[in-house]
Amino acid sequence: MTGQTEPTKIGERLPIEPQVLSSIASEFGTPTYVYLERIITDRIRALQHAVGSIGTRLLYAMKANSNVDVLETIRAEGVGIDAVSPAEGALALKLGFEAQDIFFSGNNLSDDDLSWAIEHKVLINVGEETTLERVAAAAPGSDVCIRVNLEVGAGHHAHVVTGGRTSKFGVIGQSVEAALARARSLGLQVVGLHQHIGSGNLSPEPYIDAVGRLTALALATPGVRFVNFGGGLGIPYKPGERPMDLDKLEDGLRPYFRSLGERDIDVWMEPGRFFVAEAGLLLVQVTNVKDRGGIVFAGTNSGMNHLIRPPLYDAYHEIVNVTRPDAAPSTYDVVGNICETGDFLARGRSLASVHEGDVLAVLDSGAYAMSMANEYNLRPLPAEVFVTSDGIPHLSRRREAPDELAERHFRLSGFRRQR
Ligand code: LLP
Repeated sequence: MTGQTEPTKIGERLPIEPQVLSSIASEFGTPTYVYLERIITDRIRALQHAVGSIGTRLLYAMKANSNVDVLETIRAEGVGIDAVSPAEGALALKLGFEAQDIFFSGNNLSDDDLSWAIEHKVLINVGEETTLERVAAAAPGSDVCIRVNLEVGAGHHAHVVTGGRTSKFGVIGQSVEAALARARSLGLQVVGLHQHIGSGNLSPEPYIDAVGRLTALALATPGVRFVNFGGGLGIPYKPGERPMDLDKLEDGLRPYFRSLGERDIDVWMEPGRFFVAEAGLLLVQVTNVKDRGGIVFAGTNSGMNHLIRPPLYDAYHEIVNVTRPDAAPSTYDVVGNICETGDFLARGRSLASVHEGDVLAVLDSGAYAMSMANEYNLRPLPAEVFVTSDGIPHLSRRREAPDELAERHFRLSGFRRQR
C-alpha cells in the first residue's frame, strides 16, 4: 500500500476476502473489530525503511489502538510506546515493554499521573511550565522532555490540529526559552524536545516545516539528546486519496536529520494511525432496512458508540457489503442503534444492495475506533478478532453480554437499596 501512487477505488481496498469476513462474523458474532497483523507489520517496516536510514527511533502512540495483540505485534517489531495515561503505561509494562521504551506524554497531568511515571521510571514529556515545578519537587534532578508548540499545526479536522496559537498543547512562543531556563534553574535535565502538529496529514510539507523549526531549537539548546517529532502521518480513507509520499517525506527530513546526527541528537517519531488504521475493520450486521421519504436507512447493530469518527469529525470510512459484495449498488444512510440522530456510520453512501441480516465491513477502523468506543445506551463494546500473518483468526477480546455489562455497572456503583 505504501509507495502506491494510484488513487484507490470503492471496494478495492478490502484487505481480506469477503468470504473470510463472513465466516469471522458467523464464528465470533457482530459487532466485531478485526485486525490484520500482516498490515501492521507492513506499515511499520515501510516507515522504518523510509526514515530508518536517517537514524530514527519509532514509538507507537497507543491511544490509536490498545488491543493487546496489536501491542504485541508492535513490540515484536522493536517499536517503543508513547503512553498518555498511567493505565496506558501500565498496560505497556505488563506486555513486556521496558520502562526506557515508554515515553509518558500526557497533557494537564495530575500529581497522581506524575507519581505513576516517576515511580515506574518512565520519561515524562512536560507541556505546561508549572508542571516542571511539580516534577522537580517530586523527582529532583530528573530527566525531562519539554513539549513545544512552534506554531505549525495541521490535521484532517480542527479537533485534531495540535500546533498553533489556539491549541492547548505545549509551550509556545517566548515561553519556550523561559521554560528551558526554568527547568535548568529547578535542576531538571532537559534531555529531549517534543512536538506534535496534528493528526491525519497526507501532505509531508507541514511536517517538514515543523521538523525544521524543532531542529533549529534543538541545535540551539545545550544538553538535548533527542527530538521527538510526534505522529500525524495520515492514511487515505476516501476513494481517490493518496497515501503520504514517504519518499518526499524522507527527502525533506534528511538535511535536518543529518544536522541533528552531527550533534549526536537522536530522532524519534511516534505515529499511531499510520501503523494500525488500515489494519482494522468493524463488522456490523444490518438489522433493518427502511425507506423514509427518499432516504433509505440501513440500520445496524453498532453505531457511534463503537465508531465515533463519522459524527465527531465528519470522517469518511469506506463500507463494503461482505455478504453480497457484487450486488447492484444502491444509496443508503448507514446508521446504528443509538438514540441520537447523529448516530451514523455513513450518509448518502453507495453500497452493494443491502438486505436485513447482511454483514457490512467498515474499513480503516484500526485507529481511534475501538480505543474511542464507549458504552453509551449501555450497549456492550464490540469483540476484537486478531488475524495473524498466516491468516488464522482468534478471539482477542470477547464481547460482554448485556447482562454482564448491567451487572458490572451495578456492582461498581456500590448502590445498596435502603429499606
Ligand atoms: N503524539 C501525540 C502527542 C499525539 O497527541 C498523537 C495523537 C499522536 C502522537 C499520534 O498521532 P497519529 O500519528 O495517530 O496521527 N481521534 C482522532 C485523532 C486524535 C489524535 C490525538 N493525538 C481521529 O480519530 O482522527
